[in-house]
Amino acid sequence: MSKLNDIRFFQVKPAIYYGIGAIEQVGNHDFKQVCIVTDEGMVKFGLLKMLTDVLDKHNIKYHVFSDVEPDPSTEIVEKGLTHILMEKPDALIALGGGSAIDSAKAIIYYCYNFKKMFFEEDYIKKPYFIAMPTTAGTGSEVTEYAVITDKKNNTKIPLTDILMMPDAAILEPKLIESVPPASTAATGMDVLTHAVEAYVSTNNNPFSRCYAAKAAELVFKSLYECYVNGGNLEAKASMQIASCMAGIAFNSAGLGITHSIAHAVGAQWHLPHGLANAIGLPYVVRFNGQCGRAQHLYNRLLSAIGIPNVSGDAAEMLYNSIVTLCKEINIPTSLKEQGIDEADFKASKDIIIGKAMKDVCTQTNPLSPTREQFSELLDQIYYGA
Ligand SMILES: NC(=O)c1ccc[n+]([C@@H]2O[C@H](COP(=O)([O-])OP(=O)(O)OC[C@H]3O[C@@H](n4cnc5c(N)ncnc54)[C@H](O)[C@@H]3O)[C@@H](O)[C@H]2O)c1
Ligand SMILES: [Zn+2]
Repeated sequence: MSKLNDIRFFQVKPAIYYGIGAIEQVGNHDFKQVCIVTDEGMVKFGLLKMLTDVLDKHNIKYHVFSDVEPDPSTEIVEKGLTHILMEKPDALIALGGGSAIDSAKAIIYYCYNFKKMFFEEDYIKKPYFIAMPTTAGTGSEVTEYAVITDKKNNTKIPLTDILMMPDAAILEPKLIESVPPASTAATGMDVLTHAVEAYVSTNNNPFSRCYAAKAAELVFKSLYECYVNGGNLEAKASMQIASCMAGIAFNSAGLGITHSIAHAVGAQWHLPHGLANAIGLPYVVRFNGQCGRAQHLYNRLLSAIGIPNVSGDAAEMLYNSIVTLCKEINIPTSLKEQGIDEADFKASKDIIIGKAMKDVCTQTNPLSPTREQFSELLDQIYYGA
């Protein structure tokens, strides 16, 4: 049967404002009471003040929940939930990286589901939700996903619901100016991982491929410059757009086993999400190269990043391009080089494989690895190859 008979769905929901001064857009709303969900870093780097200055200028009342921590836990979400149930805001602004945005999403999700126990859905009003990413990044400002960590069991819990999709995303380049080089590198590699995984995922489609290819192109063009010259706002704005585009791509197409492994590895050794992805991505690309369809798509992706007409092994070529970029931005090429203890790795390996096999991202990887294949792949990621 022709693919035309297969009805599929693609949606881009949030209104996206981007460019220097985009932060002023929050003043164009008639909010009565805003809740800002953020973390202490935003206070320290003066980013919260940039936002509250705009709200003050427009006489918009606000209160701040700044307890978010990297890889937000279920406890933080519970605290935030209590906070908004008491304050009853008509708008919620998430200011921060993926951790702040995901916390706000989970708060909205649990708040709505809590109210559903007492009210009919028609009577539940969801606050207007604005996401302002300060990293480039997770793309969380345009996805219906949130990742919450169960700290007791060292496990990341993925939540998926359209309820959590922001109404608006504000990409203000000045908000990412202060990101230190190591975080710029790690979060930028998260963008590339989203783009590469979405491009070859089993759910890829013409729309998602278009966003993913452009995102990958922008990463190869701008990430190194952002890393060496953090004050280059043009390069940072380009990474912000790449992050958002990669988010749109994977929200539709899904991800792959780099993320499955990174979720497990990140939770086990408390590695930043982007760093865990960056270390695993080249090996996963090489592994997926065993799939003819993935080879074909990697070839097209290489064209998008400026390496056209590859006649040989496209996965190997992409592997090399990713490793070269990682080296340029001082990202280690193995977990061993990152400093993870070998005995600890061996002791935790089975748990990591078990979690990665069950991870939702494994479902859309172009190949479904067996336990043995996961084990070989993890050895490569640990020892380097
Ligand atoms: N929802 C999604 O679609 C999605 C996708 C990928 C990852 N994630 C999740 O997002 C989280 C990671 O988010 P992240 O990589 O953006 O990092 P993050 O939000 O955890 O922030 C990391 C650190 O950087 C600091 N920081 C953030 N912006 C800064 C700035 N402009 N200047 C200086 N410091 C700044 C923060 O204060 C924090 O200490 C993980 O929990 C991951 O699982 C979610
Ligand atoms: Zn990611």
